[in-house]
Amino acid sequence: MKKLILASAISSLTIAGGAQAAEISISCGAVGAELELCQEGVAAWEEKTGHTVNIVSTPNSSTERLALYQQLLASGADDIDVFQIDVVWPGILGSHFIDLSQYTDGAEDAHFDAIVENNSKDGSLLAMPWFTDAGVLYYRTDLLEKYGKDVPETWEELTETARMIQDAEREAGNSRMWGFVWQGKAYEGLTCDAIEWVASYNGGTIVEPDGTISINNPNAVKAIETAASWVGTISPQGVLNYAEEDARGVFQSGNAVFMRNWPYAWALGNSDDSPVKGNIGVVALPKGGENGSNAGALGGWQLAVSKYSDNAEIAADLVMYLTSYEEQKRRAIKGSYNPTIEALYEDEEVLAAVPFFGSLYDTFANGTPRPSTVTGEKYNQVSNAFYNAVHQVLSGREDADDAMSSLERDLNRLARGGRW
Ligand code: GLC
Repeated sequence: MKKLILASAISSLTIAGGAQAAEISISCGAVGAELELCQEGVAAWEEKTGHTVNIVSTPNSSTERLALYQQLLASGADDIDVFQIDVVWPGILGSHFIDLSQYTDGAEDAHFDAIVENNSKDGSLLAMPWFTDAGVLYYRTDLLEKYGKDVPETWEELTETARMIQDAEREAGNSRMWGFVWQGKAYEGLTCDAIEWVASYNGGTIVEPDGTISINNPNAVKAIETAASWVGTISPQGVLNYAEEDARGVFQSGNAVFMRNWPYAWALGNSDDSPVKGNIGVVALPKGGENGSNAGALGGWQLAVSKYSDNAEIAADLVMYLTSYEEQKRRAIKGSYNPTIEALYEDEEVLAAVPFFGSLYDTFANGTPRPSTVTGEKYNQVSNAFYNAVHQVLSGREDADDAMSSLERDLNRLARGGRW
């Protein structure tokens, strides 16, 4: 196995049955333990098939990864055969991928319907679900116990508890303690955090499934104002430049009471060298006030085969291997990556390794989708406009009312009269 090489070629080796051994490439994410898990899965498939795979590691930021893929695919480059794509990209990149249904033998039927549907267009299956994601709330069980605090159910409770424990811990000598860390950098991750705040205050999902632009409403404004009030109080100013791994770094080193993150942070937070091992609880993200809702953004990654691949059938075989029951089970147990195969949520070994896959099943099955299906090819522009507007408010440059009304105007222009 070779890493970080942008090349795909057919080698002259012969494998069992006299077939030619191929050399293909896959792009894998590298957030947390992602790359290592990808390498292990790929190595097992190489062993099984005799083919060789180059692993191309990609930028951690989903926004940057999309830009890289768009560049490669627009030029029709055959450098990468298998693309790891975000759940919000089928509408943006789908035209560059083959229909996988000819290779699946119906395997997609075991995966969550909503994700399969998300990855399909005009009867073509453009990507196989690999892992799903939903935003969740991490908390320090030891600190809540020490201060006799309940797990917060609303953002208001979280704000109060975070503040109280942060202040008390600082007084006791831990000057680096913060109440709440999350993703505040201007990138796709902020779209996820902010859609959670907005949806939790019943403020909609930016653009509704029927195409209506809903973001300029008082509940959304309240949600974003609430988040802005955390910056510099319970969250460090630096949160404005945090992505997933920055938040995990602070929480895992023991310097935060609460963290918003994806499930992958569980396995790493409980690893042997983690200072907070055994002291982590995971629950649904809080509601926006008593009448709000629990909302966790729906994330997740799929595997797609490029139309420009010279080895599409072999690449599809790798996709089917990596998305299989056994491989998803291994990734769930070792890395707390959420399976997309429903039956794995009843697998005892999976539930023993990641108990909240059971207790938060509804959060994973009913994540809050970003408006990527309705906005299609324009989703990236919608998300860009949204996270930039939110970032302006979080950094105190604009008030939430003004930012949401100018965002509405920008989205209207983009939607060309609501037709998207
Ligand atoms: C996670 C999610 C993905 C999302 C990204 C944002 O990787 O799975 O859907 O776009 O975070 O940072």
